[in-house]
Amino acid sequence: MSLSDRGSVLITGIAELTTVDEELGTIPDAAVVIEGERIAWAGPASRAPAADRAVDVGGRAVLPGWVDSHTHLVFDGDRAPEFAARMAGQAYEAGGIAVTADATRAADDARLDTLVAARVREALAGGTTSLETKTGYGLTVRDEARSARIAAAHVEDVTFLGAHLVPDGLDPDDYVELVCGSMLSAVAPHVRWADVFCERGAFTVEQSRRVLTACRDAGLGLRVHGNQLGPGGGVALAVELRAASVDHVNHLTDDDVEALAGSATVATVLPACDLSTRAPLAPARQLLDAGATVAIASNANPGTSWTTSMNFCVATAVLQMGLSVAEAVEAATLGGARALRRDIGTADRPAIGRLAVDTRADLHVLDAPSAVHLAYRPGMPLTWAVWRRGEQLVR
Ligand code: NIG
Repeated sequence: MSLSDRGSVLITGIAELTTVDEELGTIPDAAVVIEGERIAWAGPASRAPAADRAVDVGGRAVLPGWVDSHTHLVFDGDRAPEFAARMAGQAYEAGGIAVTADATRAADDARLDTLVAARVREALAGGTTSLETKTGYGLTVRDEARSARIAAAHVEDVTFLGAHLVPDGLDPDDYVELVCGSMLSAVAPHVRWADVFCERGAFTVEQSRRVLTACRDAGLGLRVHGNQLGPGGGVALAVELRAASVDHVNHLTDDDVEALAGSATVATVLPACDLSTRAPLAPARQLLDAGATVAIASNANPGTSWTTSMNFCVATAVLQMGLSVAEAVEAATLGGARALRRDIGTADRPAIGRLAVDTRADLHVLDAPSAVHLAYRPGMPLTWAVWRRGEQLVR
């Protein structure tokens, strides 16, 4: 059935509608009308227009689907022993990436495809309706290109992260040359973004700049892994190159915070990763207070954050990082959309991350009467139903 054949759907029984839209705000006793893949109407239930059919969600809270703007879903293998060692006191090192790269290269295309599909399904079942995902566990021209191709079959925003780690035995500058040359050409048809792990043990600021400028010249948008393991130049580089987002941001100077606040670069915090690496929590409160745009993402990956649960990330941001529930929900929806430059729609691609007329009909229904329950009942299975692109896919 085509989208327009589905007719309009009136969703009623919404105890609280969190639109994350400045004009609509939060509406008690609300209704939403979906037509095709877009929202046709949203407002108080008493004023709802008629539609072809109705669905009653039984007094539950509805919010936009999560926009998870930082994941690494294309991988095989397991790093539970490394995690256990970390919980026993070892520090996280970038070198663990090589363990996953070996397992990923050994997997055939069909297996990788099945693994990515299952992870996207799992994220959807937790309320995530938009995902970014990265390459970065291939680290050869062939394996980066197939990672990008497989990712593009499952998610809209694919990021080239050839500059994740210098493979063993290669000269760092030679590897950067490869990333900027034949590797970039091979992945470019499948990706929208480029990223670099600008950190000690991975890529220096100068190497990162070379990679990012080459990718920008090839037409890709920019993202940066920055200031995760210690203070450094990742944030400044991201702001200088007008990257859409700089992610991790655990170790920030006042200058970094000020630079982010005065820029269009989103500061993406990764609460599950911070817990799972026992890192100092990213200063999300300070960033918001300074006026920066903050996104919350899962960073789902086998090394530092093996979860796709945005419900968990939002609860952690509230309980541990000092955000209000409204701030955390906004960061995990509109914040993520801004980090992917998807907050403004076009004629053929509706905006995501908020619920208003003409935005994409991505709805997350909680098994609770208000969004506050996300942090009030941490760890509980609160996702009750999910619509993506106007289609009910969960429940
Ligand atoms: O975002 N920091 C770099 N990349 C991933 C971790 C990669 C790994 O250890 O496998 C991250 O945390």
